[in-house]
Amino acid sequence: MWFLEILGKKRDGESLSEAEIRYFVDGYTTGRIPDYQASAFLMAVYLNGLSPDETTWLTEAMLYSGSVVDLSRIPGIKVDKHSTGGVGDKTSLIVAPICAALKVPVPMISGRGLGHTGGTLDKLEAIPGFNVNLDLDRYCELISRTGLCLIGQTAEIAPADKKLYALRDVTGTVANRSLIAASIMSKKMAEGIDGLVLDVKTGRGAFMVQQSDAEELAELMIAIGHRMNKRVSALITDMNQPLGTHVGNALEVIEAVMILKGNRQALRMDLVELCKTLAAHMVRLGDRADSLDHALELVHRSIDNGSAFEKLKEIVREQGGDEKSLDDFSRLPVAAKSHLVVALKSGVIHSLDALDIGLGSVILGAGRQTLDSIIDPAVGIVLKRKIGDRVEAGETLMEIWYNDDSRLVEALPCFERAVSIQATIVPAPGVIIKTLGDT
Ligand code: URA
Repeated sequence: MWFLEILGKKRDGESLSEAEIRYFVDGYTTGRIPDYQASAFLMAVYLNGLSPDETTWLTEAMLYSGSVVDLSRIPGIKVDKHSTGGVGDKTSLIVAPICAALKVPVPMISGRGLGHTGGTLDKLEAIPGFNVNLDLDRYCELISRTGLCLIGQTAEIAPADKKLYALRDVTGTVANRSLIAASIMSKKMAEGIDGLVLDVKTGRGAFMVQQSDAEELAELMIAIGHRMNKRVSALITDMNQPLGTHVGNALEVIEAVMILKGNRQALRMDLVELCKTLAAHMVRLGDRADSLDHALELVHRSIDNGSAFEKLKEIVREQGGDEKSLDDFSRLPVAAKSHLVVALKSGVIHSLDALDIGLGSVILGAGRQTLDSIIDPAVGIVLKRKIGDRVEAGETLMEIWYNDDSRLVEALPCFERAVSIQATIVPAPGVIIKTLGDT
């Protein structure tokens, strides 16, 4: 086959065959198709879309670009959770240890930050020494012994996604339903799971801004999962404002630990509610509870009795991280300087734009602007107020933690324009909009 012909077909809005899609995935993964042609192809897909069949073929080609882990020898129903990408979304760091503490094995292969959104791997690497690059033998061994392993894609697991994910991040081709579905489902189907809980975000800071698009994405991923005989649930959740209060890698580790320690003051209910609900769905899919209410009760118990936090410490230790940093945050990377953004007038916060805050955090160094950008794990934002809160003029809205003055200057307009204060009252928005799939 001639790749330019395939590229031209997609550019002109035509459908591709399974063989043509496989040709692209194999060619790019093995290096036969260069980045510039793959970028053009991704943009053609972004603009013209893929049909459900094309999306399934893309997912399968990406899945079989590497090996599929067999965890059938490990007892229990293995369940993972994956989010479509958000700002301040540290739920994986919280729900994975909760479920493992409740004896639901969690094989978790995560991604890095994408566009303006954060990534679990970058957050984990903010913990000094934490190694996300374990081989598959160690991955299986840890799941079998501790019930949990948190790694990035290896050369063996969906290598096509690893390369395409990085390329999409820097070519403006992330926010496409088919590309997101294939990316998520290829690596999730490869990791050896029996069940999957999806957190599909919608709103200003999500890749699917419209709720209807988020629902279609969820349905697409549920169908792909069912086709591969997996149990799949999906929550459609709000991403108009950042989740919780902390945005930035080390800062999000801190907030995750506060939740696992049951430290209720300073915590925002959106994050707590979402984590508990996601974990409860995982416990349900893992057949460890008779109902969602029962699962929620178990989730609460795992936080109250400290077993979820102990599980996080255990996995941090096992993966080479400094477990003491989870009790002593001064051992985590800390930014040298901080700047306060204050309210310019009194009133009620109507919006706290997650996209602007995510973009600002990338400019500070919490995410990547090019393929070889280096993450600064210390920088980020701590929100002091959220939508629905009343504020007085001059009151602090957010703390910006930074290391580089020029980056702060560039990022500040993002933070300032993110906030809208009006005279009228608005309620704090609910975080969980809808539940789809298996329950
Ligand atoms: N998460 C992924 O793993 N892939 C995407 O494309 C978006 C979010």
